[in-house]
Amino acid sequence: MNGILYDGKSKTLYNSDDENSYIMKFKDTATAFDGKKKEELEGKGKLNAAISNIIYDYLAKNGIKTHIIKILDEESVLVKKTEIILVEVIVRNIAAGSFSKKYGIEEGILLKNASVEFSLKSDELGDPMINESQITAIGIASKEELDYLSEQALKINSLLCGLFEKAGIRLVDFKLEFGRSASEGEIILSDEISPDSCRLWDIDTNKKLDKDRFRRDMGNVLDGYRDVLRRLENVGQI
Ligand code: C5P
Repeated sequence: MNGILYDGKSKTLYNSDDENSYIMKFKDTATAFDGKKKEELEGKGKLNAAISNIIYDYLAKNGIKTHIIKILDEESVLVKKTEIILVEVIVRNIAAGSFSKKYGIEEGILLKNASVEFSLKSDELGDPMINESQITAIGIASKEELDYLSEQALKINSLLCGLFEKAGIRLVDFKLEFGRSASEGEIILSDEISPDSCRLWDIDTNKKLDKDRFRRDMGNVLDGYRDVLRRLENVGQI
């Protein structure tokens, strides 16, 4: 493997042989609460890679521009080099997690519209929520870019709600990251989409199939991830 470019909490980026791409490898490490809780879950990297690859393939087929160039092996993908925009875009369909806590809305309440929020991508600061005028004031992104991120996030939400529904899964909320691609001169979807970055509940029982199993010490974390993968694979065969 080539030199490490960036060693993140759940992925490592390596230089590739081409200056316009790098290799993104999914790790088995699970973290929560800004890295304060950390554990190795053997096989998580491969599960998340497989799930994220199915989702990215589906999004690409439906017109979303993404960073994926090709799948390299069970835990690595070749991706386009981007300058990551330092905001996380969070979309919510159902109240849960920090939204429920912050606004006093019971977990599980269906929201009247999908909500889009931004948080500053900063581990040291605990990814604080940030509004559009603060983002443009600091110079992280322009108003036009933020409008594009929100539009893409809602489009991705519609697509993913449809995909997960076919898999018998409720898409509660999720986080997206975007990057500016130098080679293409446009903003593209980056990072991963997996049970690490989405809340996914069984459509009939509301059983949690995502990282909340780890965050909340519910046990059998990877059983949920395996279930998500199996169901998405079955959708592909319909
Ligand atoms: O914690 P919170 O309720 O704000 O998380 C909303 C969604 O965004 C969840 O699906 C969570 O997994 C995801 N998220 C993430 N990475 C973060 C913050 C949130 O993947 N740093």
